Amino acid sequence: MSYDLTEEQRMFRETVRRLALERVEPRAAEIDRTGEFPWDIFQLFRDYGLVGVGMPEELGGGGADLLTFCIGVEEIARVCATSSLIIAAQHLGAMPILVAGNEEQKRRFIPDIASGNKISAFALTEPEAGSDAGGTKTRAVLDGDRYRLSGTKVFITNGGLAKTLVVFASTDPDRGVRGVSAFVVDGESQGLSVGRIEDKMGIRGSQTAMLNFDDVRVPRENLLGQEGEGFKIAMRTLDRTRPGIAAQALGIAQGALDAALDHLKQRRQFGRPLIEQEAIQFMLADMETQIQASRHLLYKAAEVVETAGFEAQSSPEVTRYSAMAKLICSDTAMEVTTNAVQLFGGYGYVRDYPVERMMRDAKITQIYEGTNQVQRLVIFRNLLEKGLN
Ligand code: CAA
Repeated sequence: MSYDLTEEQRMFRETVRRLALERVEPRAAEIDRTGEFPWDIFQLFRDYGLVGVGMPEELGGGGADLLTFCIGVEEIARVCATSSLIIAAQHLGAMPILVAGNEEQKRRFIPDIASGNKISAFALTEPEAGSDAGGTKTRAVLDGDRYRLSGTKVFITNGGLAKTLVVFASTDPDRGVRGVSAFVVDGESQGLSVGRIEDKMGIRGSQTAMLNFDDVRVPRENLLGQEGEGFKIAMRTLDRTRPGIAAQALGIAQGALDAALDHLKQRRQFGRPLIEQEAIQFMLADMETQIQASRHLLYKAAEVVETAGFEAQSSPEVTRYSAMAKLICSDTAMEVTTNAVQLFGGYGYVRDYPVERMMRDAKITQIYEGTNQVQRLVIFRNLLEKGLN
């Protein structure tokens, strides 16, 4: 790996790599099979300060820069995508508060999220507002000193486990995307109920829930920013979290290449190890090239996004790099894992080996935190503002 990392980043990578191999990998197949949220891994990450590793130190987080955060997610995803999502999803739930919360809100909500005392969730998607995130139908009506929220959210990562949710709801439907507002909602609020829990193809140990809001009362002081700023808060959040999903995808791809190399060195056909077949060597060379190209773009994106910090508006460059990293890393993950299954032959199609799980896990990285079609749209729109460099 040739990318220039600082000594601290290299040491962090070694520590997380060891933890992932020793403590997470042995659980990965079982987490996938049972589809249960891995509380033991959550606790392990709490013990190691990983749950809030990318959140500011003064708010109880680890204070890691975005590249370090991405390296951590990548190393965990290399052995278990579900486990890496514990960190990425917690980061996503905290991000709107870090991006748009006032000092009092940050102090009230972030320390519990950073320590893992409370699980957080980001509730944006609705049945009719997925890619069209501004089409939010959930309503928030101001009534004295509180808002009353009603509506339905779907595909919410950790939705049924979260004690602190950031919920996007329209305070002014006539204003469309400019009428959306962001609220911090207590997961134990009256009127908030968990609907169906999705039975998913991959990342099976991560809970994905439908949430129903039936006249949920939210204190007025839980509004993030001003009324009508919610959509921009969501977009600025995703600009800062898509690199984490890219890192997850990259880790899955690396894990599949590791597994394929191990297998091909041992398995013999036509009287010699499979790895000696040129057709196989060429596939492995392509996989390595795709992974390295993706890693370089991701690490560059992490640096670009890091310079923007939490609170500044995203520049077109920040938005574009974030989307490009998510696009290339997730497409790489899908292609590399599919090829790894192919290289394993029949063994790739059975659950005794990890690559079929990795292929199923890879797919979601092309879908969540904005489909790759949305990433292309975002990249193109920002390309127009790029100028000539
Ligand atoms: N930063 C700041 N402001 C932004 C912005 C950004 N990155 N992107 C757009 N805006 C602003 C625009 O400037 C515009 O502002 P004005 O009103 O002042 O003009 C406003 O927001 C509206 O922007 P657009 O006209 O571009 O909005 P659009 O309706 O065309 O939508 C979209 C654009 C890119 C398709 C957007 O809806 C989008 O990103 N959709 C995908 C949503 C998504 O990623 N969902 C994932 C859910 S979370 C998840 O998956 C998590 C999980 O479970 C793990």
